[in-house]
Amino acid sequence: MNAKIGCAVIGHGGMGHFHSHHMRRIEENPDLEFIGAYDIIPERSTDLMPNEKGFASLEDLLADERIQLVTVATPNDLHKEIVIKALEAGKHVVCEKPVTMTLADLDDMIAASKKANRLFTVHQNRRWDPDYLAMKNIFEKGTLGHVFCIESRVHGSRGIPGDWRNQKEHGGGMVLDWGVHILDQMLMMTRPRKLVSIYAHLDYVTNENCDDGFHVEAVFDDGLVYRAEVGTSNFISLPRWYMLGENGSAKIDGWDVSKGEIVMVSDWENRDAVPIIAGVGLTKTMAPRTDDTIKHYPIEQIPGSWNDFYRNVCAAIHGEEKPLVTLDEQRRLIRLLEIVFDAAAKNEVAKIEL
Ligand SMILES: NC(=O)c1ccc[n+]([C@@H]2O[C@H](COP(=O)([O-])OP(=O)(O)OC[C@H]3O[C@@H](n4cnc5c(N)ncnc54)[C@H](O)[C@@H]3O)[C@@H](O)[C@H]2O)c1
Repeated sequence: MNAKIGCAVIGHGGMGHFHSHHMRRIEENPDLEFIGAYDIIPERSTDLMPNEKGFASLEDLLADERIQLVTVATPNDLHKEIVIKALEAGKHVVCEKPVTMTLADLDDMIAASKKANRLFTVHQNRRWDPDYLAMKNIFEKGTLGHVFCIESRVHGSRGIPGDWRNQKEHGGGMVLDWGVHILDQMLMMTRPRKLVSIYAHLDYVTNENCDDGFHVEAVFDDGLVYRAEVGTSNFISLPRWYMLGENGSAKIDGWDVSKGEIVMVSDWENRDAVPIIAGVGLTKTMAPRTDDTIKHYPIEQIPGSWNDFYRNVCAAIHGEEKPLVTLDEQRRLIRLLEIVFDAAAKNEVAKIEL
């Protein structure tokens, strides 16, 4: 008997495709065997290997008893229906992010997974991003002293992609695309703090239909301010990460942690600042520090493997580990997305307990 977990991908586009993420992760996992894929556009399965199957329909795929695990990588609006069908067919399910758009829909999916007694988890792969892990490590270790502000952003300059991502009815928009990653990172990094308020502004620079960028300012119950931002009209990018503590600051400009740095105060008592000319005035407060009162450090690199996600999925199916991406975490994240959309629509700061 084949001890490997047979798996398939539904939605064989950019994310589910043979040459893309899921196929490679499945191939690299010794406990998984890729059986085949189904896409509503049959030509999208032409690059499968001879021993792999391009299924003619979703029903065909779900009826294949070799398949125990399916990954759903269709546009966002289709996740709920396909996930529930797969669970009802007795499959374990990995769903792409955002798992769905409303908490009510997510609860229906969770109910289906409980009824079927099958694993149901979400591909929040950016929990393994080295830049995120490095900043989380600085935060958790208290390297900078008390941290009072974190900024996390991604900037591009190509506008929103021209596919379903710019169509509201398909779950388009940057809150649901990149926002779901960086807000998930925010919730994971700041645990066990609770959110107490959310200000949100959505951008519609290149697209009237759905947001092509956003700013969220989140305040936590200990006063920590976390700014999350996605921009697609940014021809000059601001740092990916910027963290401020009472004794120092940390910054990573792009994705490369080795290019990030920490600057720490080495002498708080040395207040003998020489005023500088700033604009048409003088300032001591904003005068740069002299080298004898600060120290520069590299940012410690924390290895993050993107194969950890499917490794954990296999272990969870075998009952050896709990899923790393839990449904409670996803409920909190989807509730936050609802609050972000609502606060932005009302142009109000949402007072919350989340
Ligand atoms: N985790 C990540 O880093 C990451 C990155 C990119 C995309 N995604 C997510 O992956 C999902 C897919 O995104 P993408 O970029 O691959 O999109 P895509 O448009 O490239 O691929 C989606 C595929 O689904 C197919 N499809 C549409 N309706 C279908 C149906 N009813 N049944 C079967 N197939 C159907 C399309 O033909 C297409 O090939 C989205 O939920 C997206 O948010 C996640």
